[in-house]
Amino acid sequence: MPRTIVVTSALPYANGPIHIGHLVEYVQTDIWIRFQRMCGNRCYYFCADDTHGTPIMISALKAGVAPEQFIGRIHKEHSADFAAFHVEFDNYYTTHSPENKALSELIFNRLNEAGSIAKRPVGQTYCEVDKMPLPDRYVRGTCPRCGAVDQYGDSCEVCGATYRTIDLVQPRCSLCGTPPVFQQSEHYFFKLADYEKQLKDLFAAGYTQKSVANKLDEWFQAGLKDWDISRDGPYFGFKIPGEDNKYFYVWLDAPIGYMASAKNYCQRHGLNFDELWNNPAHELYHFIGKDIMYFHALFWPAMLIGAGFKTANKLFVHGFLTVNGEKMSKSRGTFIKASTYAKHLDPEYLRYYYASKLNDAVEDIDLSFQDFVGKVNSDLVGKYANLASRSGPMLARQFDNRLGSLDEDGRQLLARLTAAKDQIVEGYESLNYATVVRTISALADDANRYVEQNQPWASAKTDPAKALTTLTAVLNAVRVLTIYLKPILPRFAQKVEKFLSVDPLRFADVDKTLENHQIGAFERLFERVDEEKVTAMVDQSKEGQAPAAAVPAAVASPATPVVPGIEPIKPECTIDDFAKIDLRVAKVLSAEKVAGADKLLHLVLDVGVGQKNVMAGIAKAYAPESLVGRHVVLFANLKPRQMKFGLSEGMILASGPGGAEVFILAPDAGAKPGQTIR
Ligand code: 2FM
Ligand code: ZN
Repeated sequence: MPRTIVVTSALPYANGPIHIGHLVEYVQTDIWIRFQRMCGNRCYYFCADDTHGTPIMISALKAGVAPEQFIGRIHKEHSADFAAFHVEFDNYYTTHSPENKALSELIFNRLNEAGSIAKRPVGQTYCEVDKMPLPDRYVRGTCPRCGAVDQYGDSCEVCGATYRTIDLVQPRCSLCGTPPVFQQSEHYFFKLADYEKQLKDLFAAGYTQKSVANKLDEWFQAGLKDWDISRDGPYFGFKIPGEDNKYFYVWLDAPIGYMASAKNYCQRHGLNFDELWNNPAHELYHFIGKDIMYFHALFWPAMLIGAGFKTANKLFVHGFLTVNGEKMSKSRGTFIKASTYAKHLDPEYLRYYYASKLNDAVEDIDLSFQDFVGKVNSDLVGKYANLASRSGPMLARQFDNRLGSLDEDGRQLLARLTAAKDQIVEGYESLNYATVVRTISALADDANRYVEQNQPWASAKTDPAKALTTLTAVLNAVRVLTIYLKPILPRFAQKVEKFLSVDPLRFADVDKTLENHQIGAFERLFERVDEEKVTAMVDQSKEGQAPAAAVPAAVASPATPVVPGIEPIKPECTIDDFAKIDLRVAKVLSAEKVAGADKLLHLVLDVGVGQKNVMAGIAKAYAPESLVGRHVVLFANLKPRQMKFGLSEGMILASGPGGAEVFILAPDAGAKPGQTIR
């Protein structure tokens, strides 16, 4: 009886390109789905862009477009990247959809009716210049524990301390650099602890891999805390029913996006969504990375239980990708976008390489370029493609592309190959792809040995009938190996199917043989990969990266004492770093208050070689008219930034703690617009 299986991969944020780290999961899931389909099971694969939240809203603002337009652009890019890597979803949707809005409201209302939603005031960080609440990641300042400068608002990358943004020394809005204010606001909370018992039952029934169980125990022991599911506007997301300026936190509607993608698919294909999603006879699996386990192991099933929906049968959790043994790095060129990879190398190489590394453990996998090149050349080219290219063209030349019959030797070879079927099926089913690849590779060695032993190129001259029997066995071996490899290498399999003139191969075809069968024209299957291609890809991935991205986390010099209230001296920069900064005298031509931003002045500056507009957070310190005609020092080559109130093309230097105490640094006597400062 075929199984009906609904599968999801985590929804990537619509805030940047798909990279090779993301691809581990999509390749892992896609292989599993292709495998299930080849076994005759009905599989649905749903995904979407995760489109809401402050970072995406800010990215859109910086790009100067509406968030809807921004996420539309990213959706096209993501879809093209997945297609290039043969990741085939049944629906690749968006969380910014009517289906997702309706389902999010439905689930929220049901949780509310069940008494699982609480409302209470919380402290939040707010930027009065940008006029928005700031997520922790948008506040930077000095770590209250070790004094490291420029740390995020929730944790220090240097000493590992976690803290509240309110505890940071000299916090700054990372968008405009002004100190944020702290305010109280009513937020909605989901009472996770109400579901402790049901969650424990779920885990006892095998909801996660065993290795995840320890982590879950830690969480239960720490106690399940209420989850803040609302954010104040401005926020790109769905408004909470009955509220004017409160939105669902992105992580509330993101997993609901799995359902919304399924619902949209059902609507377009005349299917009943409830029957597909909620049918207890259907299996449901979520593939995710280890970083988002908390959301998928606790919040998400609890929300579903509270709202009366079915939970997944299991989470499949995988580890991260490292490259050459290290974290992916922009400076080393190992932070490789899917599109950059695909410009240089065949995506099937990466699918094969990842498969050769993946198992069901929550372990990181490493992409070593040397190993990658070795594996592609030895396995894909040297084993699989080689078998076909040694036999296909010879069959065409000597035997008019027509297979003969098998002899005992050939049958024995095929028997050894087909005997591995159950082991391979079990390996795919249990996500132990590395074992699958090792098994197939050993079988390919066996088949290549058979070719060596029987030397059809020699017997073709002395005993053509024997040569034909050998070639028939070899091409049957190619067929069996192709069935085994097809979930990993769908394009390779398609080419082989065409070349062998057979219908799309399935696992049930393993035991069939091809005899006295006319095959098609041979087509080259894989090209060798040389290291230069990898180097070119890495070089291209280094391009356009600001050197700052490579600088390790900032640490105050150990010699610099931490003085409360005084920002420590920043880490050293070289004279070359400094030389990039263009500081020059500029004359204020006009200064005006900015409507809606009580700290900002809009300055038009004469910089000697033209004019620049600058939005400066100095309105509390200077009346606009007092600045006209005065000289300031301008950071003139700062990348222009699109702010809510207009484009700012530089920054004027000032000192002081902020508010009314801001001092602009420029002597007026002798100053001349355009003078550079050293
Ligand atoms: O961590 C992430 O990249 C999230 N965008 C994953 C969301 S998965 C699901 F919950 F939507
Ligand atoms: Zn700000």
